[in-house]
Amino acid sequence: PVSPDPNLTNCIPVRPAFGNHTIIDCCPPVSHNIIDFKPPINPVVKVRPAAHLVNATYLENYKEAIRRMKALPPNDPRNFYQQAKIHCTYCEGAYKQAGFPDIMFGVHANWLFFPFHRMYIYFYERILASLIKDLDPNFAIPFWNWDSPVGMQIPACFHNDPTSPLYDSLRNPNHLPPAIVNLDYNYGEKDQNTPETNLQIMYRSVVSTSKTPTLFFGSPYRAGDREDKPGGGRVQDILHSAVHLWTGRDNKTALYRRTEDMGAFYSAPKDPLFYSHHGNVDRLWEIWKTLGVKRKDITDSDFLESSFLFYDENKNLVRVKLKDCLDTKKLGYVYQDVDVPWLDAKP
Ligand code: C2O
Repeated sequence: PVSPDPNLTNCIPVRPAFGNHTIIDCCPPVSHNIIDFKPPINPVVKVRPAAHLVNATYLENYKEAIRRMKALPPNDPRNFYQQAKIHCTYCEGAYKQAGFPDIMFGVHANWLFFPFHRMYIYFYERILASLIKDLDPNFAIPFWNWDSPVGMQIPACFHNDPTSPLYDSLRNPNHLPPAIVNLDYNYGEKDQNTPETNLQIMYRSVVSTSKTPTLFFGSPYRAGDREDKPGGGRVQDILHSAVHLWTGRDNKTALYRRTEDMGAFYSAPKDPLFYSHHGNVDRLWEIWKTLGVKRKDITDSDFLESSFLFYDENKNLVRVKLKDCLDTKKLGYVYQDVDVPWLDAKP
């Protein structure tokens, strides 16, 4: 067994598994020149702020960055909608594994989930920062602090102004503020939870049922594996999925019930909130590693040598090895230090 790598040159149009059923082409522009990623040398360590705590200047810069990203030519890989399509390519079967032309490359419900999404939002952030170098050279994306009672609603800046580039009309109208997220939502009758219940779900998912690397990251996924979803970790399956399904607008007429944008693979990152949601998922990985005992990164070389391809802020196609993304400080960011009230919410 060896590590799975994506092959971009035989990317194909796909029919999304859920939600929309027409065939879509989410393949990015092709480039045959692939650069190996090197973590920045002595990076300035930027702080990703909690979305509900940002000030007006930050918010104006952030909105301007998204506006500029949306205004790039449609076939520029840095364009907002090109960035959104990355999720479709890695999650709906558009990319095949290098060396296995009939086997898809998947990054959900397997151990690639956390590192893939870390690097996806990392390059998105680098692109945004480069687009507003003139305004804020150290720009870092905000995270949605849904694990804390102060952040359990959709952050105001994403929904309170329909003309804002952070707004998305495809969200569940019943789940806008003051609705409180249900962290184990799965289209059930319970639209909201109390903060206390959410804190207990947090404790259960991150602490008591995530005691080993496999329980946290998900099951092994190696080159040539036909099953791309051998099983996700608790944070991915419960908390992460719940927030996706809860945020999107319910489309009960779809063959498979999914909520677009946020609740379907192909459409989730069309909502700018996706990147803040994944900021928080990424932050939980950092917190989990501080909880001790066996809570450490996987050391299997098949995991560490896995790679992903992304376009960077200079439109270069970059190959990132998973082993280079385990330390956020080396990548150049940390999360704003906020309360973690669920750490003592043992039920
Ligand atoms: Cu790739 Cu939150 O999903």
